[in-house]
Amino acid sequence: MEHLPSAETAEAAESHYFTQNPPPKNLKSNVTLAREFIDRHAEQGRRLVLVTSGGTTVPLETQTVRYIDNFSAGTRGATSAEYFLQEGYAVIFLHRQFSLLPYSRHYSHNTRSFLDFMKEENGRVVVDEQHQEEMLRVLRQYSVAKKENRLLILSFVTITEYLWELREVAKLMRPLGHKAMFYLAAAVSDFFVPQDRMVEHKIQSSEEFSQNTNRNGKTPAARTEGRSLIIDLEPVPKFLKQLVDGWAPEGMIVSFKLETDPSMLVKKAQYSLEKYAHHLVIGNLLMTRKWEVVFVSALEGEKWIRVPRNRRSRSVSGVEAWIGRAEAGKAENTVQPKAEAQDTQGEPIIEIESLIIPEIAEMHTKLIEQAQATKAQQKS
Ligand code: PMT
Repeated sequence: MEHLPSAETAEAAESHYFTQNPPPKNLKSNVTLAREFIDRHAEQGRRLVLVTSGGTTVPLETQTVRYIDNFSAGTRGATSAEYFLQEGYAVIFLHRQFSLLPYSRHYSHNTRSFLDFMKEENGRVVVDEQHQEEMLRVLRQYSVAKKENRLLILSFVTITEYLWELREVAKLMRPLGHKAMFYLAAAVSDFFVPQDRMVEHKIQSSEEFSQNTNRNGKTPAARTEGRSLIIDLEPVPKFLKQLVDGWAPEGMIVSFKLETDPSMLVKKAQYSLEKYAHHLVIGNLLMTRKWEVVFVSALEGEKWIRVPRNRRSRSVSGVEAWIGRAEAGKAENTVQPKAEAQDTQGEPIIEIESLIIPEIAEMHTKLIEQAQATKAQQKS
């Protein structure tokens, strides 16, 4: 059983991490952009959410040729950002560079090229007739977000870049108080190579040429031994603890729990909620994440959100037969859109984020109201 880190241990781990692993070069300019964005929306009294999205990399060399990565394409984060904007939030979208972006995601990372949506007409490029309506809808939403200056896009690549940016932006968000939200959908690396155990140059595939010590005289964490590549990773401190207790004590915090074994999902989500004492854990299984998720919160306990059968998107990697496997035999407390009661044959596809985000916004409203009531009580 893992033990809850004490405040001092978590703080010491934080301090050690940020001392050992230097900030990204563009941190200052990103902080300037974020500060200006946050201050403007704080002044307008708007709610603001930081959405993290995509996977973090773990470089094995300082001049990086090889790195460890994960599967996340950033679909959850990019899609959620659009629905948050629809709910009136300002959004800071902190994403893995080149992963999916809100709005343009509809036309990128596809099996088809975006050029397939176009045709030539009288020497001009125009959108194909069959895509006009959908593209106009997306373009209008994008234009509103841009015009109202409600979307700020920041990027990271490595785990260290991600953590530096998360920490700095979270601190800047403090003045928003309870109107701030953190929606942590990024797939964050659990293990990494610390800077002082990294080799400078490309790891050689043959031991004859490989470096046995690095610049600091330490055995490199990633090295060739005989014909094998040995990678000896260290744990990344769990920064959720610091986010909850230190960086953003008033904001609503939504974390995700990804599992592949259905029997573990709810238990692990509950464990995470107890351990970090934040507001909401959203559990999802790799195989069914586009069609079902479970909310685990102190406010509402366990609550399943599912896309009705006839409105599910197709997914090459997902397995529909697994839907329901992580729920211990109870169907009550399941959120489905009203449309399910009707015959939904031929109805448009529903993205699960269109069900998730309004639920979260409602929880956020309750938390803000609770906080306001507590403040009023304290005054009287
Ligand atoms: O991008 P897609 O393809 O659409 O996939 C979406 C998703 C499956 C990646 C997303 O829905 C999701 O589940 N994201 C979280 C995956 C994850 O990192 O889970 P975890 O169990 O490793 O981490 C749990 C929580 O701890 C996360 O909220 C994370 O922010 C936090 N964490 C993780 C590592 C770390 N060192 N410190 C942390 O605080």
